[in-house]
Amino acid sequence: MASGGGSNLQAIIDHFDALGPEAPADVVLVVSDRASAGALERARRHGIACAWLPRERTAELGLLLAAHQITHIALAGYLRLVPAEVVTRFRGRLINVHPALLPAFGGPGMFGHQVHAAVLRAGATMSGPTVHFVSERYDEGAIIAQWRVLVDTDDTPITLATRVLAAEHFIYPRCIVDLCAGRTQLAADGTVVGVPSFHVERVNPNSEPDPISFA
Ligand code: GRF
Repeated sequence: MASGGGSNLQAIIDHFDALGPEAPADVVLVVSDRASAGALERARRHGIACAWLPRERTAELGLLLAAHQITHIALAGYLRLVPAEVVTRFRGRLINVHPALLPAFGGPGMFGHQVHAAVLRAGATMSGPTVHFVSERYDEGAIIAQWRVLVDTDDTPITLATRVLAAEHFIYPRCIVDLCAGRTQLAADGTVVGVPSFHVERVNPNSEPDPISFA
């Protein structure tokens, strides 16, 4: 589910394509609340079913997901709250990527460049994406993985966003594969079971994500 350009969606499609028959799932449906979302265009280009579900029709989401036999949902820049009944039905199978190190710099209104501007205003020396399970509240579900990105003293929201986005493109598809393969799970007590199949602790915070070293 996406509201914007869909670069994360593209990274997911590319990663699943690269895995070929090893992929534990298929990308079968892209849903957006914005008719002009680049994500919908990307879906069309790849022959993936897509749907525009404006805010006033969000209640139909459950039916749409059932019709496509959806088993897992990845939010990729989706700006609306997912309806509570979908969150409940997909608990443990619904994840999101956020462009900062949660629990800092998250919550309602914290999206796009506002996140990176807040990180810079706060004088944080480290940022980076967080992949987390989705709960009923914005950006509050259990954290699955994070990737540290060093903040440069001359960073602007745009330069920082570019580096964080590159890290998102690396970790998010891999977290989705781990989830679909059952390697990552949300336990009944709300904790995350399973370690991401890439090794966050081996990452030099100064480095850009390196898919060759860490795939
Ligand atoms: C990403 O930064 C993601 O973390 C946030 O929204 C942005 C979406 O970018 N939730 P894109 O549409 O995937 O390019």
